[in-house]
Amino acid sequence: MFPYEFYKVMHLLGLILAFTGLAGVLMAGLNNPPLKKSVRLLGAITHGVGLLFLLVSGFGLAARLGLFGGLPGWVYAKIMIWLFVGLIMIFVKRKPQMGLTLYFLIITAGFLAAYFAVNKPF
Ligand code: HEM
Repeated sequence: MFPYEFYKVMHLLGLILAFTGLAGVLMAGLNNPPLKKSVRLLGAITHGVGLLFLLVSGFGLAARLGLFGGLPGWVYAKIMIWLFVGLIMIFVKRKPQMGLTLYFLIITAGFLAAYFAVNKPF
């Protein structure tokens, strides 16, 4: 197992990758659909690698905080948010005209994920 700080930096890097990947495809789609394949691929790979980092480091952080053996509710909530941030790429790609609404949802999901981790409300 790695130190807490390692997982924390990996978690933040994952966050940056996942959200820039999503926002990149979303904004390119708002500007000028259909997207070039290379642009879509760059966004999709960045998003996917970011999600993987977020999940692995999220469980690493939970282990380092001694949360296993009865995971608290906020961790389950973050797993749901993670799923949402993953699946919303389907709509970002297929419904570029819904970009602004999707962007609002993505930012709200990021806010909730941060809020739950910092405040641990349940
Ligand atoms: C879209 C997905 C996610 C986002 C945007 C996100 C965001 C964040 C942020 C901003 C922090 C606070 C970092 C800091 O204190 O500097 C954090 C911490 C944390 N996250 Fe996530 N996270 C996500 C997914 C997950 C998942 C899937 C898990 C669990 C499997 C998880 C578990 C944790 C844990 C355990 C902490 C540490 C809390 C602490 O240090 O007190 N996160 N996350």
